[in-house]
Amino acid sequence: MPTIHTVAVIGSGYMGGGIAQVFAKSGFTVLIADQSAEVASSALDRLVSEAYGFEEKGLFELGAAAAVEANLAAAESVEQACAQADLIIEAVFENIDVKTEVLQRISAAARGDAVIGTNTSTISVNKLKSAVENPARFMNIHFFNPAPFIPGAELVASDETDEAVVDAVIEVLNAAGKRPAVVGDTPGMVVNRIQYAMLSEAFRVVEEGVASMEAVDTLVRNSFGFRLGLFGPFAIVDQAGVDVYKSSFGILEDAFGPRMAIPESLSDAVAAGVHGTKVGKGLLGDYGDQDLTAI
Ligand code: NAI
Repeated sequence: MPTIHTVAVIGSGYMGGGIAQVFAKSGFTVLIADQSAEVASSALDRLVSEAYGFEEKGLFELGAAAAVEANLAAAESVEQACAQADLIIEAVFENIDVKTEVLQRISAAARGDAVIGTNTSTISVNKLKSAVENPARFMNIHFFNPAPFIPGAELVASDETDEAVVDAVIEVLNAAGKRPAVVGDTPGMVVNRIQYAMLSEAFRVVEEGVASMEAVDTLVRNSFGFRLGLFGPFAIVDQAGVDVYKSSFGILEDAFGPRMAIPESLSDAVAAGVHGTKVGKGLLGDYGDQDLTAI
């Protein structure tokens, strides 16, 4: 595996632009390309001035904007951006035909040892892999919006992706300040499935007149939104009590039916005495004296 120093981002729109800033501010050399040299060049101007704006507001650390300005450049074409890159990330329109065509061009222009990622949110990596010459070096690297600020990234390997490629992508994302996790190839992947489950309930409470959209946003941002910044959903269950969550699910299941059914593995855990940090044994394993903020 070559060490990743140079990153090409194909598609300089909302996500591609943010992804380019992420790598450029972390010291990688980054080239952005779009449908024409003019589009890429105007994206470059936007991304650099946006970076200074973020820094002024305290959203970027001091020096980050200068790093974006120094490390980011616009390419003349997709081919030019890809030729020297160690890692190429495709972030064009979410359309399988457009992505297939662009991935074919990327693959033809890339070095044989380059890693190619797609930022698709909804298209199976196993469907897209046939667009590249060497599927062993291809995978889904799914950033979240807004990419410069959200640390998480979902990684999805196809059934042909080389494990060393996944490891190299994890390493490079960690170096760029991200917190990636590997997940399976399922529609919506993990974060969107969970987010849409929450969103569906959020729409329901508004439609039922229980709360306004503004009230829902205020509560989510200031209650579990904040907690989820510190802990994942399972760590919260372990802290609050696995048995407590089972009882609460029971009450919600009585009220709303199967969509709030007690998850089978939650019932099994409670039956096995896994009641959370209070007993030192939770869904995430044995806690002992572990510092909970490190979960
Ligand atoms: P966007 O519309 O802002 O940007 C797409 C860019 O691709 C545009 O600049 C467009 O000119 C360029 N493009 C289109 N065809 C091209 C071609 N043939 N060659 C070179 N460049 C081309 O879209 P956005 O929101 O940035 O989405 C990009 C990808 O990221 C999609 O796959 C989307 O599903 C994914 N994504 C989007 C998120 C979001 O919240 N918007 C979140 C996570 C992933």
